[in-house]
Amino acid sequence: EKGGYDSFMLKEIAEQPRAVADTLLGRIDAEGALTLDEVRIPVPELRAVEKVVVVACGTAFHAGLIAKYAIEHWARVPCEVELASEFRYRDPILDRRSLVVAISQSGETMDTLMAVRHAREQGAKVLAICNTNGSTIPRESDAVLYTHAGPEVAVASTKAFLTQLVACYLVALYLGQSRGTTWGDEVRSVIRDLAGIPAALERVLAAVEPVRELARSLADRNTVLFLGRHVGYPVALEGALKLKELAYMHAEGFAAGELKHGPIALVERGLPVVVVVPSPRGRSVLHGKIVSNIQEIRARGARTVVIAEEGDDAVVPYADHLFRIPAVPTLLQPLVATVPLQVFACELATARGNEVDQPRNLAKSVTVE
Ligand code: F6R
Repeated sequence: EKGGYDSFMLKEIAEQPRAVADTLLGRIDAEGALTLDEVRIPVPELRAVEKVVVVACGTAFHAGLIAKYAIEHWARVPCEVELASEFRYRDPILDRRSLVVAISQSGETMDTLMAVRHAREQGAKVLAICNTNGSTIPRESDAVLYTHAGPEVAVASTKAFLTQLVACYLVALYLGQSRGTTWGDEVRSVIRDLAGIPAALERVLAAVEPVRELARSLADRNTVLFLGRHVGYPVALEGALKLKELAYMHAEGFAAGELKHGPIALVERGLPVVVVVPSPRGRSVLHGKIVSNIQEIRARGARTVVIAEEGDDAVVPYADHLFRIPAVPTLLQPLVATVPLQVFACELATARGNEVDQPRNLAKSVTVE
């Protein structure tokens, strides 16, 4: 049942190219345009939306943080992202012109479900992004976009996360298309980029052996930090969450721009710091800033583990360990940048003798508060 893999988690990591391809399937027409028939919210209502609020927990929340960049970029509508457990106790301001996007692999997470109920009571429209057919959250939402990751058995979410990202990009494009902020060739061009992701993921997966070696060499460490910016920031948070839940290590993700505001005080000799580097092509300003951050932490003794695009030479002098990811458009980079971090956490957990599919104290579906 594990298909020859040592764990369900490794199997599910390896299934990601197919999971992404399946989630795109049937949502692109013969002309390469987007068709999201499942989003049964009428276009005039989508045009009238004044704000989008994404609610989710854990890894799904990280997908939501990335969705914000895509939704604001392509649909030009303000987007907030909130932990469902905070949202539901906060008396949030919502009305009929609010669109709530609830992201949940299981469709049963209690906090997310309660957030959905609360949103609908306020008159907001709710769109669920979910991996489990017929589960409670989609049943209680106005519409649902299913991710097609297939059953996820390992407690730690991997392929569900990547497919949540794909669904978020599709929603952002669909909103943009409906509202007239992104259309025609631009939509088709992003769709083409998305269609290229499964092949890019195959390349990432083919090159993970050095990541596993590094992970094994760090098995006796206590702390690992993760840095990123823009869409790389949620990727850093996700890398840290995976390490906490699987390797039971202290791990924290930071926005690289915040280093000087506190976290840099944590850097000491030999501390592993994983840095997710944005593309030097798209947002070159951010790229330059993160290269300076890598220099700064390395000057203070950090052992830098750099995830950077193929051909990005600027990082080479400052990377103690360098892992390459294929060049993809900036907004889509989390799809490829997350995978090495999943492998890193999985291998580190195994090296520490932990059960990766069933981490201590955790359940696959959190149906209590
Ligand atoms: C982390 C993980 C959890 C879930 C969270 C939400 O690897 O799996 O953080 O992402 O419990 O679960 P769903 O998506 O089922 O609502």
